[in-house]
Amino acid sequence: MTKYFDEAKRILAANDRGGYTVPTDRLYPFQWNWDSAFVAMGFATYDIDRAYRELERLAEGQWADGMIPHIIFHQPSDTYFPGPGVWRTNHTIPTSGITQPPVFGMALRAVHEAAEKAGTDNARARTIVLFEAALKWHRWWYAARDPDGTGLVALLHPWESGSDNSPAWDVALARVPTTTNTAVVRKDTGHVNADMRPRDEDYRRFIHLVDTYAACGWNPAKQWEKASFKVAEVQTSAILLKAGEDLEHLAGQLGLDAAAEELAAFNYRTRRALLAQWRPNLSRFVSSDLISGQDIEAPTQAGFLPLLALDLDTDLTQALAAEMRLWSDGMKVAFPTTKPFVESFEAKRYWRGPSWAIINWLLIDGLERNAQAKMAETLRSSTLDAIETEGFAEYFDPITGEGCGGLGFSWTAATYLWLAR
Ligand code: DGY
Repeated sequence: MTKYFDEAKRILAANDRGGYTVPTDRLYPFQWNWDSAFVAMGFATYDIDRAYRELERLAEGQWADGMIPHIIFHQPSDTYFPGPGVWRTNHTIPTSGITQPPVFGMALRAVHEAAEKAGTDNARARTIVLFEAALKWHRWWYAARDPDGTGLVALLHPWESGSDNSPAWDVALARVPTTTNTAVVRKDTGHVNADMRPRDEDYRRFIHLVDTYAACGWNPAKQWEKASFKVAEVQTSAILLKAGEDLEHLAGQLGLDAAAEELAAFNYRTRRALLAQWRPNLSRFVSSDLISGQDIEAPTQAGFLPLLALDLDTDLTQALAAEMRLWSDGMKVAFPTTKPFVESFEAKRYWRGPSWAIINWLLIDGLERNAQAKMAETLRSSTLDAIETEGFAEYFDPITGEGCGGLGFSWTAATYLWLAR
């Protein structure tokens, strides 16, 4: 065990670029938003100062309107596409123009609690500054990405989900043109096998959206109007709600009553909206395609993520857990991000089937919350086994267990530190 803890810490140290951690060398040479939030929780298990630093460096990229972008380009690198010249955001510290799942609030609570436990100096002051950043970001989500006040937040780009090429986007993304003003010069396929990455056609659509939003000057209202991809998404909304609960809890601890009340109102709205996305015939929750008005029924992990943020009734939990068992049955490493063997399932291609340690972490928390301790423990121990057997890979082929994508991966190291602690 100690050997793996040491290896996980060694990976985080190797990926440190000065107070922030790159997901892995070369393939992702900058600071990524939700990666860093998971990494901060990993650091919180042994180095509280460094855990705060990770979040502080992420908050350096926050925009005046509250958005925390999905990439912060602290230093130049020529091993990644699309770089700052494609995003054209004109931010002082160059950043991308879109966001990513708001795990930040969850991480802040974890770091704060670790600091309190250890009696760390300055913990309260450092937490308060980061709390203000997180609150501004949650306000941004509700204003910019739920202007109609539905309680579910929308994504305007598949990269915002973190699950870039999930089958969940196939129908919605097919409406996005493949034409681009920017030349698409991929670098990712020079680092890992092209069969493990999104397709060229996906990239052309990804960049078409970037061009469209850059032409809107990254103004959220204009983007909302011009978006040809607009999905009210359950995984992101569940993470927003869980982070919102954690921030509400922190606000209570810190005596920030007005903030606690504001967050409680956001959380209430999202809790109700998420519950309404349950589909008994599928035994899953579904996202909505806001352009067609249709449910997104593609079977992906996102349908189970609301476990993380809701206290479900027993019948619903039983149905959901039974469906999860069905997907996991016969897999060497659960939890597959697409239902095994449906047409869109590909065991090695990024978000179209592989198992990801951070998704497992969120599902484990959700299963525990909903009294599924045994299932949570099975998933926890199989995630740790996969890492011990294959190393700290970006993700795992669920059928063979093979480690895939980038290696020496920061969030896989952080997950190990957290789940094995
Ligand atoms: C990538 O470049 O693959 C990232 O996932 C986008 O954020």
